[in-house]
Amino acid sequence: MSAHQVTVRAPAKINLGLSVGPPRPDGFHPLATVYQAVALYDDVTATLRDDSDVTVEVLGDFAADVPTDSTNLAVKAARVLQAEYDVEEGVDLVIRKTIPVAGGMAGGSTDAAATLVACNRLWGLGLTQPELEHLAADLGSDVPFCLVGHTALGRGRGEQVTEVMSRGTFHWVFAIAEGGLSTPAVFRELDRLRPLRRVEPPEVHPELLTALLSGQPAALAVALSNDMQAAALSLRPELSATLQFGLDQGALAAMISGSGPTCLFLAADSRRAVDLAVELAESGLCRMVRQAEGPVPGARILPAPIPR
Ligand code: C5P
Repeated sequence: MSAHQVTVRAPAKINLGLSVGPPRPDGFHPLATVYQAVALYDDVTATLRDDSDVTVEVLGDFAADVPTDSTNLAVKAARVLQAEYDVEEGVDLVIRKTIPVAGGMAGGSTDAAATLVACNRLWGLGLTQPELEHLAADLGSDVPFCLVGHTALGRGRGEQVTEVMSRGTFHWVFAIAEGGLSTPAVFRELDRLRPLRRVEPPEVHPELLTALLSGQPAALAVALSNDMQAAALSLRPELSATLQFGLDQGALAAMISGSGPTCLFLAADSRRAVDLAVELAESGLCRMVRQAEGPVPGARILPAPIPR
């Protein structure tokens, strides 16, 4: 079934565990990661064009930081679908961003995932979820997870995703820093900091999977880990103060999100998450603060608005 206009809501991701091996011959790093999708969303609205052009407009908090040329990952996603399936129509994309740009939360990747889902419907392609995941892997390592959502294990360079069991809901607070960090730059810094001969193959710690099954935030707090944290802090040392501030205010855990510079905090419950968010917002340590629970589903078509 095709449509004239489709809106897809796609979540941010965090990495509850992020273990990074030594670089492969292709330059990518083998990962063993546990992703969780959290309720911080970008909405992508796709409107059909008769000609084959692909345009993008970006609205919201971080719009000024997002390219609107052919380097935009959502544009690339639409172009990949057009090329693979000989699509003659085009699309106007409008991205409403609430996910920080270059923040270690897969904002660009999730816009690409949303665009795949939206254009699949818009152009009536009828692709299955596994077919979309296959295309997603070529667009970026995190894009398949953004389609799947919930909580999942990521292997390979992060693109091989299998869902893992998780009980209950966890309450997260995010301190969004001024400016972003380039993911390749943080990987390079990690390689610089570690004697590569001694780097073990990446692995997921069993305690993390057990903690997710228990649904207990206190158990999850001690099982969180991120190999990229040291590299992100080396490039942005001031983030240590943000992490410490959150712990002093009662967060169960504080960690860099993915490649950073967003700091994430695990709260014991939703009330404590609100308290922590208020304290962080008043601290002046970050650009903005967001609160979100997880896990949530991956990129999903929103119901069409009811005509008035
Ligand atoms: O896959 P994605 O386009 O998101 O990756 C951006 C960059 O991050 C890659 O070009 C690479 O430099 C680095 N990267 C990596 N190992 C991974 C994922 C990303 O080195 N597993």
